[in-house]
Amino acid sequence: MQTDVAALVLLAEQMAREAGDLVRTRPEHVAVAATKSSAADVVTAMDLAAEELLRARIAVERPDDGILGEERGHEPGTSGITWVLDPIDGTVNYLYGIPAYSVSVAAVTDGLDPATWTVLAGCVHAVADGRTWTAGLGLGSYLDGRLLPQCVDRGLDGALLGTGFGYTVERRRHQAQVLAEVLPRVRDIRRMGSAAMDLCTLAAGALDVYYERGLNPWDMAAGMLVVREAGGEVVGLRGAGPGAAMTVAGPPTAVRELADLLAALDADHDSE
Ligand code: IPD
Ligand code: CA
Ligand code: CA
Repeated sequence: MQTDVAALVLLAEQMAREAGDLVRTRPEHVAVAATKSSAADVVTAMDLAAEELLRARIAVERPDDGILGEERGHEPGTSGITWVLDPIDGTVNYLYGIPAYSVSVAAVTDGLDPATWTVLAGCVHAVADGRTWTAGLGLGSYLDGRLLPQCVDRGLDGALLGTGFGYTVERRRHQAQVLAEVLPRVRDIRRMGSAAMDLCTLAAGALDVYYERGLNPWDMAAGMLVVREAGGEVVGLRGAGPGAAMTVAGPPTAVRELADLLAALDADHDSE
């Protein structure tokens, strides 16, 4: 059966916008509902409610598809397509009222490993300002309905670099050491707090290159397609695909230079 990629993109966008409408009702004081890997890794009631909304929509629209969502895990389907959901990417920003949080919705096939899966369609909806990135495999990347041009490759020197940090002490210690070596090589560093928005911002030309250790499939599913369809690469280190060990994104020369530097710094390991 042929997959209608354009229909998947449309549905991804509709669902991300609907979840975004819910997330936008953010109360003035947001409470932490639970913590996960560390005290810094928080969940709010809205993370749970937004994922429920997305799951309910998929159950109605595409009942045979699987779902992998950050908050409620994997529910296998029978169609070969799985929806990968981050109901709020940038929960710490949401908690503090910093307007960089997004809903990320993607449809993938060929498994659930970001190194080898095929992302068919994706949408990242920035809740606070409404910016919406969409991409379909072979159909290009769009920001608010406008086709994104292919991203410009300026190499690593002088690049504006996005990154993020993990939630555990051992990981952060090593990430700080790596950062100390990367910072002198680039124009400056941005830590936006939403990996999905980092990837989309890069695709739209407002970041030159990005790396992060510890991403989960839902952080990157939609954003990696947006980058690739805008002519960028999304890779791991030492010839591996992107994944939890390391994700590097940007135009080809910048990605190669950054991946080589990160490999030399052992950035895909934690401190002892
Ligand atoms: C986090 C954000 C953050 C990144 C973390 C992610 P969450 O996702 O994308 O930018 O640095 O690695 O876990 O927890 O807000 O969905
Ligand atoms: Ca996330
Ligand atoms: Ca999340």
